[in-house]
Amino acid sequence: MFGQLRDDIATILQRDAAARNAIEVILCYPGFHALTLHRLAHGLWQAEWYLLARILSNTNRFWTGIEIHPGATIGKHCFIDHGMGVVIGETAVVGDNVTLFQGVTLGGTGKEKGKKRHPTIKNRVVIGSGAKILGNITIGHDSVIGASSVVLANIPENATVVGIPGRVVTHNGQRLDTLNHDEPNDAALQYQLEVMQQQLADLQSCVEAPAPLFKSNNADDLANP
Ligand SMILES: CC(C)(COP(=O)(O)OP(=O)(O)OC[C@H]1O[C@@H](n2cnc3c(N)ncnc32)[C@H](O)[C@@H]1OP(=O)(O)O)[C@@H](O)C(=O)NCCC(=O)NCCS
Repeated sequence: MFGQLRDDIATILQRDAAARNAIEVILCYPGFHALTLHRLAHGLWQAEWYLLARILSNTNRFWTGIEIHPGATIGKHCFIDHGMGVVIGETAVVGDNVTLFQGVTLGGTGKEKGKKRHPTIKNRVVIGSGAKILGNITIGHDSVIGASSVVLANIPENATVVGIPGRVVTHNGQRLDTLNHDEPNDAALQYQLEVMQQQLADLQSCVEAPAPLFKSNNADDLANP
């Protein structure tokens, strides 16, 4: 527990040029308070003390302006900068060394049902202020999501995404000139090829393991599949 607190303080001192010392971080960083309270709430959630966990998470929101569902999984060295308005949904998974700015939403699309409705954010991802990452999608390692983007599809590793809906503007350090259809550059073609290969693999796995037509033998489910 104390090791984790020390880690969190070191992370903030390392990544925020404005942070001057540990005392300042402990007293003045809502991201630090939110993650500390979330760990307690997550422990309660895992111990199946659901209501207590929700109450603690709600207190956390009241205190910091950051709403993290107690079921969400957050890795090591996460840094929530400023934090106000950040929302992290129940089935979101955040990897290690991730940075989230204020107003980021890791949410559901509102259409998904079932177990995993929220995104998975891999290691070292940076998500700019106000960005919305929606649905059960994955943001690959080391990617950067531009401020105010709305991302609705999987993003590969090492990509920079901007806009609504989010589009990849750089991949593996190379600019993708995807708007120039007459003369797309090599990086853009390579990226499109990788996207198509991934789509093909996804389709193949759907064909090999088709979803069951009906979830149960319940008469209502059969009538409204
Ligand atoms: C996306 C970002 C990381 C820049 O990445 P980059 O790889 O350096 O990209 P560039 O600056 O070269 O921009 C690439 C293109 O995307 C556009 N772009 C950059 N950021 C954008 C954004 N947030 N929304 C829409 N378009 C954006 C640029 O205008 C440029 O467009 P062009 O090719 O038509 O000229 C940065 O702009 C950003 O949004 N960072 C988030 C920082 C943040 O939230 N800070 C909060 C501090 S409190």
